Amino acid sequence: MRTLIVNCKNYPEVLGEGAVKLARAVAGVSGTRGVRAIVAPPTPLLSLVAAKTHAVVYSQGVGTMSGERTTGAVLPGAVKAAGAVGTILNHSESKLSFNALADLLPRLEGLEACLCASTSAEASKLSRLRPAYVAVEPPELIGTGVAVSKARPGLIRDTVVAVRKTGYTGGVLCGAGIVTGEDVKKAVELGADGVLVASSVVKAKDWDDKVGELAHSLM
Ligand code: G3P
Repeated sequence: MRTLIVNCKNYPEVLGEGAVKLARAVAGVSGTRGVRAIVAPPTPLLSLVAAKTHAVVYSQGVGTMSGERTTGAVLPGAVKAAGAVGTILNHSESKLSFNALADLLPRLEGLEACLCASTSAEASKLSRLRPAYVAVEPPELIGTGVAVSKARPGLIRDTVVAVRKTGYTGGVLCGAGIVTGEDVKKAVELGADGVLVASSVVKAKDWDDKVGELAHSLM
């Protein structure tokens, strides 16, 4: 199934009821014609978004600590209890070591993982952990509006080949600078199963329109 993940990051537009409104826009396109749309709100808003919408909700991350006496830590069990079904991990804005990821994945309490990678080699290594998704994102294009699918087509092609060589059967996503439906179509042509986006959606004037444009381009 083609997948659209909208990472809200901590843009001011989504630090409150905005996260709920954006999640409703994402929920509105999920499940239509083979597209799974996921929203990752700021962590403190996970419960609110999950309770007030029908969106498929991911956390933007979880902490690596475990145990009860872990003041301030964001544990997988709490993220799950808040209503999330998965988590983004190893985003370039929130990197973890391979060993930390290898230790964390079996402790996700059933949460799906979308593991981000900056290169095809990193994506290949991470795909051996068998997450639900591997997402390749060149950090230098994030937030620029210059789409990875246009600026770095070889990275997407190479990543798909590299992760499939490991026997990985999950979803291969790409992200960074994706703005238009055309950027999304190009990503799919290059072999991606979907995209991970942030600023183009959060900063859009009309969230329903922008999410619709991106989701329909995945079909
Ligand atoms: O997690 C998605 C992200 O890093 C891409 O950001 O703003 O370039 O869509 P953006």
